[in-house]
Amino acid sequence: MGTTASSAPAGRFPPGRLAFPHRDLTGIAQLQRHEILYLLGEAEQWVALNRQPSKHCGLLSGLTIINAFFENSTRTLLSFEIAGKRLGADVVNMQAATSSLKKGETLIDTAITLNAMRADAIVIRHGSSGATRLIADKVDCPVLNAGDGSHEHPTQALLDALTLRHALAARGEAAEDFTGLTVTICGDILHSRVARSNILCLTALGATVRLCAPPALMPRGIEAMGVEVFHHFDAALAGAEVVMMLRLQSERMSGQFVPSAREYRHLYGLTTRRLALARPGALVMHPGPMNRGVEIDSEVADLAGRSLITRQVEMGVAIRMACLDILTRAARGVEGWA
Ligand code: NCD
Repeated sequence: MGTTASSAPAGRFPPGRLAFPHRDLTGIAQLQRHEILYLLGEAEQWVALNRQPSKHCGLLSGLTIINAFFENSTRTLLSFEIAGKRLGADVVNMQAATSSLKKGETLIDTAITLNAMRADAIVIRHGSSGATRLIADKVDCPVLNAGDGSHEHPTQALLDALTLRHALAARGEAAEDFTGLTVTICGDILHSRVARSNILCLTALGATVRLCAPPALMPRGIEAMGVEVFHHFDAALAGAEVVMMLRLQSERMSGQFVPSAREYRHLYGLTTRRLALARPGALVMHPGPMNRGVEIDSEVADLAGRSLITRQVEMGVAIRMACLDILTRAARGVEGWA
């Protein structure tokens, strides 16, 4: 399972090329459309395995994966840990609170230390944009970005795309990509690595992406990424098939960006009344953690058949299994030729 590129449909790749010619996964920006589709296709076998009572497979048996998380995480850390364990690897979690970082060690020294332990893959979450690339340049094994500052969170965008593909297929709207689909992303776009990776992934797959935020939380010049910019949520929702809500990233804000949570909900909160402005049956997504009653009301977050939020968590494990499999193929002596 997962050892060859055989699940890739013929003709999609330039012949004789590696299906995924990257050592690291630092961002969606590095990926081409066919590489994103390849990752999504490879994840399907893990979605299926994860739905079996016995979820273990020995593909990465004997390999060591280090999850080095310098920022808090629930979903991402847990799902990388579960992904590695289901693939049979030895998984070690290093969390900043217990590491030597608190003793003043530099990020580069930490990277050199992790490298000396001969990890076969390192998963990094860090508060600084570009930290993953910095570490990737210092170590000999694949590095996976689990979120770096407000830069990128590639596995989140991939799991979101996989979730959407499944939801559309369940409605009989299965398609290879998202051409013709309008996705509205609303929230703290300025500080969100999830927004950045999703913009790159969704536009690469053909979707129309609308961004909505108060002016202070919208990055200047973001239109250059091929998105439509809105400041009025009602207008951004009209006709959208998918609404992705983001949390206010208060920990990345220096100073006051919004007057109050109450005011923010009034203008940018997804309520049942607002959701009715989108296309009938519009799907709701959120990467978590949610602030219920601020950017999203509970009635919407828990709306059966429409909210994909728990499905996103499920798909997160499958996507991370696919990424760990694909990136460790070189170490396992397995080639993924197209
Ligand atoms: C996001 C993150 O950490 O970037 N969460 C996640 O990975 N599921 C979004 C957030 O923290 O708001």
